[in-house]
Amino acid sequence: MPSKSEPTSPADPSDEFPFADARVAPSTHAQLQRDSKYLLQLYARPDVIFTRGEGCYLYDTAGRRFLDMNAGIAVNALGHGDKEFANVVAEQTRNMVHLSNLYHHDYAGPFAEDIVKSLPKNCEGGLSKEGQKVFFCNSGTEANEAALKFGRKYGRKDLKKSEAPTKSTIVSFSNAFHGRSMGALSATPSPKYQTPFMPLLPGFVHAPYNDLERAAQVIDDSVCAVIVEPVQGEGGIIPASKEFLQYLRKRCDEVGAVLIFDEIQCGLGRTGTLFAYEQYGVAPDILTLAKPLANGLPIGAVVLAPHVAAHIHPGDHGTTFGGSPLATRVGHTVFSRINNPHFLTHVKEMGQHLYTACNELANNSPLVSAVRGKGLMVGLQLRDSVDPALFVDLAREQGVLVISAGNNTVRLVPPLIITKEQIDHAVVVFEDVISDMESYIATGKDLKV
Ligand SMILES: Cc1ncc(COP(=O)(O)O)c(C=O)c1O
Repeated sequence: MPSKSEPTSPADPSDEFPFADARVAPSTHAQLQRDSKYLLQLYARPDVIFTRGEGCYLYDTAGRRFLDMNAGIAVNALGHGDKEFANVVAEQTRNMVHLSNLYHHDYAGPFAEDIVKSLPKNCEGGLSKEGQKVFFCNSGTEANEAALKFGRKYGRKDLKKSEAPTKSTIVSFSNAFHGRSMGALSATPSPKYQTPFMPLLPGFVHAPYNDLERAAQVIDDSVCAVIVEPVQGEGGIIPASKEFLQYLRKRCDEVGAVLIFDEIQCGLGRTGTLFAYEQYGVAPDILTLAKPLANGLPIGAVVLAPHVAAHIHPGDHGTTFGGSPLATRVGHTVFSRINNPHFLTHVKEMGQHLYTACNELANNSPLVSAVRGKGLMVGLQLRDSVDPALFVDLAREQGVLVISAGNNTVRLVPPLIITKEQIDHAVVVFEDVISDMESYIATGKDLKV
């Protein structure tokens, strides 16, 4: 593991702190230029080309090693190059990758059964009732898109086919991120994502996150579904308050709306419990899962309470790729590894360690204004709109990969197998990054977003 005294590559004295990255090899530049001629440029990516991964590390073309505190945006729960994962992928690939949903196979059913049997028993709400069903798709966005459609379908359960809907409004919350398809985007009330694609779908309303009073105002009899992340990821690692989720549950029951928990980022062990909602004592009517479900192979899942599933019929929704033998067999293996008390205890312990270390960081630096999170989902909010992109760049130059999130937050979502030593190393680098940023600010330079 690189330590502070062993940089991942020699510093170039011509580097003009902190923006220049003079360590990019000419061959890397050439390849990136060639690629950019053909790849649609949707992401501001650093000039690094990764060639392989192992555990919590990634390696680039120059052989530099990076501690991955990002995990492909909360996806690679088991890290990179996991042998068991690779063996299952290889075996199933040799056998049968794709079949379509026109036919049955051996893998989707037992996987769905395990998901259903693992649902928390200690939470009040639709999904705690026996008879839950699972729909497999290919991504988080697709899972939410399906959940929103199921919510709309449920909203017209008392109507005849030809009757116009009266209960079709969908409520979501500020800073939410539910995906970028037109439906999921309509529930993602951030101008940065929405404005270029206006007009969005009708029937979506938004309220401030964690605000019970405003939720009470918008959730009325016209609402068919309410979608919420128990811990917001993209929005800046913001946990919902217990009162908020409990209130949403109560209010949805009062007006007969479906409560959807989007656990695409915060679910599947990330917060130290299999599902984040078990820490709230409140169950949704629909749960959406994706990201780590097959450790990087595309998959999404929607879990429906029996009263919602009862209104979804053949032909209502579908997918070509979703629920394939490959994705569900691999997903089942990954899910079983995450759904293990030792694994989850490790996540809890590492999460506590990371959170404590980040709090110490915050106590020692005015640059960090807040630390938030649950388990291995931790956010360092920088003060006064200081741009987290600079933190991300400086940490990467020291061999640690992190990403930013909303509310000028540095987001830490490492592989769930991360060790204490690896966390300690990352925190040493963060201290250094913060001190570099403070010196830079002291020179009077502006680091604001
Ligand atoms: C909470 C949440 N919901 C939905 C999505 C969309 O998932 P995907 O990118 O797999 O479509 C994301 C992705 O970041 C997410 O964090």
